[in-house]
Amino acid sequence: MEKKAIGVFDSGLGGLTAVKQLLKVLPEENIIYFGDTGRVPYGNRSNDTIKKYALQDARFLLKNNVKMVIAACGTVSSVAGDLHDNIGVPYTGVVNPTVYTAVRTTKNNRVGVIGTSATISSHSYKRRLQEENPDIRVFEQDCPLFVPLVENGFIDRTDPLVILTIERYLNKLKENDVDTLILGCTHYPILREAIQYVMGSNVTLIDSGMETAYYTKKVLRREGLLTEDNNSGNCKFFVSDTPDGFERVASIFLGRKIDDSVTQIDIEEY
Ligand code: DGL
Repeated sequence: MEKKAIGVFDSGLGGLTAVKQLLKVLPEENIIYFGDTGRVPYGNRSNDTIKKYALQDARFLLKNNVKMVIAACGTVSSVAGDLHDNIGVPYTGVVNPTVYTAVRTTKNNRVGVIGTSATISSHSYKRRLQEENPDIRVFEQDCPLFVPLVENGFIDRTDPLVILTIERYLNKLKENDVDTLILGCTHYPILREAIQYVMGSNVTLIDSGMETAYYTKKVLRREGLLTEDNNSGNCKFFVSDTPDGFERVASIFLGRKIDDSVTQIDIEEY
């Protein structure tokens, strides 16, 4: 019998930055990834629409009998917090694991958060950071052009377009002397080098995908759901728009070639 998979979803390709980390942290586990490439981006949609999409995405994964669901999307994690009530298997978004690490990283208690417009206007990261430590000052900035940049492959730190866009959004955070910056959208680790260049080497960047992968391992262990099979796991990829070109762009996100299957589904059926 095939081992049960971990289900991961995002509005598009960003969640693959979490998959990249899962492959390192839990190499024996099977993974089913759904990228809602037909409806990306989520980050500038209404909360009701984001909640509806998130529930459909999770239902698709549950139909595939996953043992855990990860919303590898800052926007869904921020706006559709009640998703875990409708799931019936362990669930995590990216906000809590990321906040956990950020509060332990900052030395000057000045933390920056960047994300999509929906994420930033929900103040999800800010609220959780200040619940953990009320002395932390949080500086928030939405960066609506980052997702289109990444989805179109503009990620190079030597590209003036990339650097100018990042500077436009992040200069205020720099002036506010943050020592820790949460990449609150799973697309942003792809711009990591360029963001680090703009912010300077003394600012620590926190990758929400990476923190979520570590947290997932803890949850599976706690629930007794880690696989006992030591063979490498497999990945299956599903998308809601044409899979053409997915392998190429996805390989940038995953940092390795994709030779696994990529299948198109109709997400409106779920
Ligand atoms: N990767 C997603 C996030 O983490 C969002 C991108 C979008 O659909 O706007 O917020």
